[in-house]
Amino acid sequence: MSRSPLGVLVIGAGAIADLHVAAVAADPRCVLAGFADVSADRARSAAHRNGGVPWTADVAEALTRPDVDACIVCTPNDTHEDLALRVAAAGKHLLLEKPLATTAEGAEAIVAAFARRDLVLAVAHSHRFYDYARTVHDEIAAGAVGRPTLVRLALLGGWIWPDWRTWVIDPVRSGGHALHNGVHLLDLVTWWIDSRPVSVYARGQRRTATELDVHDYLEMVVEYADGAVAICEMSRAHRPATLSHRDVVVQGTGGLLTMAWDGDSPLLWDEKGTHLLDPGVADGFAAQLGAWLDAVTAGDTRTPVSGEEAALAVALGVAAERSMVSGLPVEVS
Ligand SMILES: NC(=O)c1ccc[n+]([C@@H]2O[C@H](COP(=O)([O-])OP(=O)(O)OC[C@H]3O[C@@H](n4cnc5c(N)ncnc54)[C@H](O)[C@@H]3O)[C@@H](O)[C@H]2O)c1
Repeated sequence: MSRSPLGVLVIGAGAIADLHVAAVAADPRCVLAGFADVSADRARSAAHRNGGVPWTADVAEALTRPDVDACIVCTPNDTHEDLALRVAAAGKHLLLEKPLATTAEGAEAIVAAFARRDLVLAVAHSHRFYDYARTVHDEIAAGAVGRPTLVRLALLGGWIWPDWRTWVIDPVRSGGHALHNGVHLLDLVTWWIDSRPVSVYARGQRRTATELDVHDYLEMVVEYADGAVAICEMSRAHRPATLSHRDVVVQGTGGLLTMAWDGDSPLLWDEKGTHLLDPGVADGFAAQLGAWLDAVTAGDTRTPVSGEEAALAVALGVAAERSMVSGLPVEVS
């Protein structure tokens, strides 16, 4: 059991940190213990915006603070492995931004470090906590479409700027687009289908940003041990520029589920007819934080997005990157 409220240190005070901080402020089970960022300006500014909490540019020093029980790491992808291992060594629980790591080996090292110390590791695959994803998951899990045989997930938001900058467009730092953002889709379809992925075949194109050395349009096909197939389509080239522009199709042995625009009610076709499903209204980042805190306060290391699941998403993303280079399907071991 952990003390309450839990002191939460945010490491990395950039764009996504704001959403985590808002979730922390809204949950009475935790308090914001401060910010650590290699940029003193960013740490100071974030602390100032959030009531003058402590800040530092020295992560090591922050990790020695006894009032820090847990950390949320919101730093560039290539720093996750080093920081996660340091958080584990300091004996703190961790909510780590996706992807867990940029290599399969790094992902495994992080999972092992937290398991060894009985610390709670959750990975911010935030789409898992969005209504559309949870609705699809819960309907499949309840047997609404029978066994899923074909899933199509298209996320077509065209928001190439402002968040495509610096490290994000450097594949060495981000791990490449199939890993950096592709993990959201690869994780979701695997969660929905609930079978072991065996191969990934991916193709990347540059539709709008030929001057950038990055694929802005991806197609990824995942095959599963039970014969199911997932087709993921992802674009930062399409307009309008919104995360809400997505398309979900789940064909199963007993029905068909479709979901068009975010906020639209999903449709389910089965033998009894056509049904409108509830689109839901939850705040994804609050739900994500809440699930992690549930686990920490209960002393339960099984989190809704466990290290093992996030490591599998990394393996799929890495396989997709390799497939784009070779032009061939890549087996997932
Ligand atoms: N879950 C989601 O939907 C979602 C959305 C966007 C970004 N992300 C992830 O969040 C993370 C951060 O993305 P962002 O857009 O906020 O990046 P950002 O560049 O806006 O912010 C990163 C911050 O980390 C700091 N930093 C860099 N290296 C550091 C280190 N070693 N120690 C401490 N601080 C360090 C930088 O100074 C910067 O302030 C990435 O892993 C990204 O993949 C997730």
